[in-house]
Amino acid sequence: MNILAPSILSADFKRTGEQLREIAEAGAEYVHVDVMDGMFVPSISFGMPVIKSLRSATDKVFDVHLMIEEPIRYLKEFKDVGADIITIHYEACEDVRATLEGIRELGLKSGLSVKPKTDVNVVREFLDVCDMILLMSVEPGFGGQKFIDGSLERAAALRQIIEESGRDIDLEIDGGVNLDNVSDILDAGVNVIVAGSAVFKDPAENTRKFMEILNSKQEV
Ligand code: DX5
Ligand code: ZN
Repeated sequence: MNILAPSILSADFKRTGEQLREIAEAGAEYVHVDVMDGMFVPSISFGMPVIKSLRSATDKVFDVHLMIEEPIRYLKEFKDVGADIITIHYEACEDVRATLEGIRELGLKSGLSVKPKTDVNVVREFLDVCDMILLMSVEPGFGGQKFIDGSLERAAALRQIIEESGRDIDLEIDGGVNLDNVSDILDAGVNVIVAGSAVFKDPAENTRKFMEILNSKQEV
């Protein structure tokens, strides 16, 4: 199923609850929550108290993208504030497998993310402990960047790796996605679309436009 995951990094934080309701009404199934620690990425975003507060604004799936060093330290805390999916970075973990297993042991879905310069083949050995692979199509750290050329080919390669494994694993993409490039991204085999700046300029209207494209490409 094709799913839209608007990234609240681009939301208007003084009215995020209202904007979460708007995107949900317009068809977004996930809320993409970007957590940055100023170490793994240069920027700092927000943490547990903010997520906990937003949890009461919507019953949609909280897709929490941890751009933090050694996320294994905080898995339970993110579960407790309402995460449904936790995605960690291959590059940020000393023990990737233990981190992914830790997420699943909490009863949550596990995601494994790779940065734009990381070989996509690194995911192969972790497919048995992954519910989702997240391909970064910008260097993580900021919203509003340009989609990196070559990301479509990387997405297609990841979809093939997933298909060959015979496992039911989602493929998500994050960074620089907009209404002009989303069709090609879906055609490359991505089924979970993160979009921040392209949604939150006008959350209701842009979610509706994204959903039109996502639904038109839905497999039957
Ligand atoms: C970047 C974040 C993204 C970001 C996407 O490090 O992981 O989720 O918010 O923003 P856009 O869609 O504006 O590139
Ligand atoms: Zn993200």
